[in-house]
Amino acid sequence: MRITQGSWPEGLRGELIISAPDPSTLDGPHPFFGEGLTYRLSLQPGTFGAPSDRFAWRQRVIDSPSARLRAKRPDVFEATMIGVQSPFGVVNSANTAPLPWGDRLFTTWDVGRPTEIDPVTLGFLGEVGHRDQWQPFEVMPQPVLPLIMSTAHPVIDPDRDVMWTVNTLWGQLHVVRWDGEGPVQWWPIEGAIIPQSVHTITQTRNWIVVADCAFKVEPQVLSGGERTEPNNYGGPVYLIRKDALEATAPGQPVPCSAFELAPEMNHYYGVYDDSDGIQVLFEHTENSDIAMAQRPGDVDALGRPCDPALMGLYGFPMSPDRTTLVQFDPSTGKVTHRAESLDPQRLWTRQLNAMDWSTEGMSNPVSHHLVHQGWRPEAITQRLLALYGDRVDRTLWPEEETPPLVVTLERQDLTVTSEYELAMDDFPSSPIFVPRDPDAAGTSRYAGSDPGGHDGWVVVPIINDDGFRVEVFDAGDVGSGPVATLAEPGMKVPFILHSAWMLRAEPAQDRPRLRFADELARVGELPDDLARVAHEVAADLDEGVPIGR
Ligand SMILES: [Fe+2]
Repeated sequence: MRITQGSWPEGLRGELIISAPDPSTLDGPHPFFGEGLTYRLSLQPGTFGAPSDRFAWRQRVIDSPSARLRAKRPDVFEATMIGVQSPFGVVNSANTAPLPWGDRLFTTWDVGRPTEIDPVTLGFLGEVGHRDQWQPFEVMPQPVLPLIMSTAHPVIDPDRDVMWTVNTLWGQLHVVRWDGEGPVQWWPIEGAIIPQSVHTITQTRNWIVVADCAFKVEPQVLSGGERTEPNNYGGPVYLIRKDALEATAPGQPVPCSAFELAPEMNHYYGVYDDSDGIQVLFEHTENSDIAMAQRPGDVDALGRPCDPALMGLYGFPMSPDRTTLVQFDPSTGKVTHRAESLDPQRLWTRQLNAMDWSTEGMSNPVSHHLVHQGWRPEAITQRLLALYGDRVDRTLWPEEETPPLVVTLERQDLTVTSEYELAMDDFPSSPIFVPRDPDAAGTSRYAGSDPGGHDGWVVVPIINDDGFRVEVFDAGDVGSGPVATLAEPGMKVPFILHSAWMLRAEPAQDRPRLRFADELARVGELPDDLARVAHEVAADLDEGVPIGR
């Protein structure tokens, strides 16, 4: 990509990593279920093979066992509303969020194990933990591809240098801890039932926080049936002490503190420093439904036939974006709402956020950056409105469509401190925060000298039918508009999901990793021709044979 406007800020560096569903495998009814594809944009010109005035954009389909099996036998895979099934088991799409862990890079999926890829080549390295160390949700046979009910947003614990995630089974929550090489360990959490799903988890120094998330899967939807109920209006939030987990033998129950919170939750972020209480920022997704997708014959919120170009798009919010800062007190069970952001005139259809993920930034966050798509009645179907009924307050709907925005919230009181209006036909996607001087003396590697998310840049990938571009804003003043824009004539990028910033992309180090060849104990359950394919894929992975699409 090249600079098409402004000038590249001195000191902006690192890598923008983006997870997305591979459009060539998007043959199902839902836009989220293509196989994992990773993009990497280098934020310094002239690196990774780019000319000195260009920025390297690299992309690769994750050549996981799931993707390789499907590439060899696409005929036995079937896309449904909740994922891609096959006689091998269920595809781990690993397409949702990049998760850096120092110089290691993982990609995630709500219903699959985190997947490690090489930060430079973006090639598959291994899934986290042997299937026998997890508790697969196996209602249909999954001899080689287990379905693990996990989360798209595990967290890396900066004090312990471990990954925390979850494994839900028939609604029972288990917290999972992984040291980066050994077996995964899990603990059932006493009384912690997940009514819907766990898209996100978060943490403070001493606590793991798990909330029920608004993605409802009704059994009849698995076989193509209609949804009968909207997402739950609210749900439980569980707080689990890390030291209680570590003081308990894996597999044995651990207690928690349970709270109830509404409206619907999806993404949420704890303040790491909990010495003044346990504070969590919730990006509520009130009356939106990402599990429902537009299909032929749909009519939009204003009574117009839906645009065929939007087929498959998920259900946009029918209520304005609500962001809250909530404090939990496990000793009294008290929930205190400390701050709220809500603006029915302007803040609609929050896409994703950017924040300072360094330990210092998470401990004392200053700014929370968001992109919003604006009020978009074209992306709300009458089916969706009928399902949600009188939960939707239509008097809050703006008179006309509103523009997409890049917005900065002050993290302590959630006031809007700065906002920038994009063009009506822009589709801003997952932004990242890049500190001004990362790896500064005396800080952790991902922190700048003034951590918190305000000193540095907000980098926003923007999808537009006229071409893809990347806008760079000053994190302290997004309202003054982009300081630089990257684009490339004719470059189009389809629907993307989360992004993350990495300080640098270094080749992955050799270390013990799970081999697919070691997960074939049940290959004999497959018909001979499919068993042969599974063995071929295991050999291809061991020998580094390209996926061969
Ligand atoms: Fe997410």
